Formats: sequence, structure tokens, C-alpha cells
Amino acid sequence: MQITLTVNGEDRALDVDPRVTLLDALREHLNLTGSKKGCDHGQCGACTILLNGRRINACLSLAVMHDGDEITTIEGLGQPGNLSPLQAAFVQNDGYQCGYCTPGQIMSAKGMLAELDMGWPSNVSADLTDIPDLTRTEIRERMSGNLCRCSAYPGICQAIEDAATEEGMTKREAAE
Ligand code: FES
Ligand code: FES
Repeated sequence: MQITLTVNGEDRALDVDPRVTLLDALREHLNLTGSKKGCDHGQCGACTILLNGRRINACLSLAVMHDGDEITTIEGLGQPGNLSPLQAAFVQNDGYQCGYCTPGQIMSAKGMLAELDMGWPSNVSADLTDIPDLTRTEIRERMSGNLCRCSAYPGICQAIEDAATEEGMTKREAAE
């Protein structure tokens, strides 16, 4: 089937079998190998991308479902020499060891901070109507879909905190 995806701001035409996942379309058809395949079953978060601004597991979605959609992958966030605040904070805080989960962690953090900014509650938010704070408990809960076999979690949490502070991304800060 013929589809067009807008990937990292660029329109990309594809001819894909209807069974091809969005992850495979990005990796195998568009050669964007930053998004990783860990479990291929929606359990590890290594394939996390932004779809129309919201984080999803690319391994759980079929490419043909996304004709005309906007996709951001780790390659679209920043590049060597021009890292995004989140990417730079992961480097600065040792937020990785082998690095396999890192693109997914960073894309998930990007989506998660936007959700927090919009005031979306999580399972650990004390109040469903109040704007949640960017606490460690909130970060851990909201990032719980992204596994790290190297257990670089302390660095990952610190990197997210640092990047959010730098970007002024919490709604509470913006409201002050
Ligand atoms: S590869 Fe998609 S969640 Fe693990
Ligand atoms: S850095 Fe190795 S799996 Fe996370």
C-alpha cells in the first residue's frame, strides 16, 4: 500500500505491506535505526516515538494506519553537535550504559514531560484535578513503560529532572 508519513518534518512516501509495523517501516524502509526493537511486543519501550506529538510504542502499530501522520524519532530530536536538552542531559548524567534503551527513554521522556505540562494525572498523583509536580515518584511512574536492562535508572531520572528544569517544562513553573 502507498502511504506518506511526515517523519521529522519531512514527507516520506512508502510502499509497504499492510502487515509492516511502524517500527519496521522506520527502521527497515526509511533506515532510521535510532528507534530500537527490544521485545517487539509493547513491553520494553525501546521503540518509543512521538506520533502527532504523543508517545507510542512503534512496534504495536501498523505503518498503514498512519498515512498522513506526523512522526518524530530520536533522529528528529537532535543530532551529534546539536543535541536537544534531553539528549544532552542523558549524556551529562550517565543516563545509559549500553545505550540500547536510550532512544526510547528519551522519546518517552519528551512525551511524558508534555503530558505533565498539560496537567495529566498519573497513577501516583495525589489529586486528579491539581497540576502534578515533577517529583521522582511521578517520573518513575510515568517512565515505567521504559525498561533498562543496564539499570541506569538513577541517571535517567536525574537527566529528565535536569532537562525539564532547563526547558521550564513543568506547567507549575510556567504558571508561576
Ligand atoms: S520493541 Fe516496542 S515495546 Fe519493546
Ligand atoms: S542502557 Fe542498556 S538497556 Fe538501558
